[in-house]
Amino acid sequence: RNVMRKQRNWEKQLATKKSKRKEEKQRRKLNRAQMPATNSLNPQYPKGLMRETARERLAEAQSRGPKLCVDLSMTDCMSDKEISRLASQLRRLYGSNRKAARPFHLFLTNMSQTSRLYRECLRMNDGFLNYVMEIREEPCQALFPPEALVYLSPDAEEELKTVDADKVYVLGGLVDESIQKRLSFSRAKELSIHMARLPIDEYMVKKENRKNFHSKVLAINQVFDILLTFFSTGSWAEALQAWFPKNKGYIVSSAVCAAPPSPEA
Ligand SMILES: C[S@@+](CC[C@H](N)C(=O)[O-])C[C@H]1O[C@@H](n2cnc3c(N)ncnc32)[C@H](O)[C@@H]1O
Repeated sequence: RNVMRKQRNWEKQLATKKSKRKEEKQRRKLNRAQMPATNSLNPQYPKGLMRETARERLAEAQSRGPKLCVDLSMTDCMSDKEISRLASQLRRLYGSNRKAARPFHLFLTNMSQTSRLYRECLRMNDGFLNYVMEIREEPCQALFPPEALVYLSPDAEEELKTVDADKVYVLGGLVDESIQKRLSFSRAKELSIHMARLPIDEYMVKKENRKNFHSKVLAINQVFDILLTFFSTGSWAEALQAWFPKNKGYIVSSAVCAAPPSPEA
């Protein structure tokens, strides 16, 4: 009976995973259809042409785009499962940048070639070594002047007002399986780097839900999708509407939906 129960549970988990993946796929498809301005690579173009255009844009971003580092200095305390999840979030983040009309110049910092994460990226992410991004062993503060750095943390007091091509945005390479609160906040404090959070309080309101669950903590690829869309459209309402995960208990406030983008953008 135990074996049968385990089998049933396993099948249930598999079905949930499948339907979640399907939902996510449909959401991405819908977003692509709704936002031609943020992703102007038309899927009807021949693949070779699309690849070439993406490469050209990424190359241009290396010299002119805003910079984004994923700070991988905190991976030692992560489980193997978390490392795998981080590797797949990095794949998604890179995939979004490749498709973006205005990509960022990406850096993976504190990434050692002997680390578990590096091995996992090689194992799980096809073509990882050909990604147009910089893989560096140095920490972000050794690569850029401190005044250019903006560490993104859900616990920061100040909200991010705009995305500036002269700044270097830093995401904490963390996954929230074993929720370690305020790690990125402490890291930015330790480095004395300016901090900012996504402007969720300013543009979103809590949505009632059965579990009364509300969270402003997103995965790195989700934060990055929001930054990319904001950078292309200049509208936080649009970016949050498109990419803020539906299961986090927030929706874009109807008061800001109709408002024009902020003048700073
Ligand atoms: C899964 S979160 C990690 C949350 C973790 N408990 C922490 O210490 O911040 C991974 C990274 O995404 C970014 N992030 C997630 N939600 C964010 C938000 N609401 N505003 C700004 N950055 C956010 C931060 O850089 C964070 O380090």
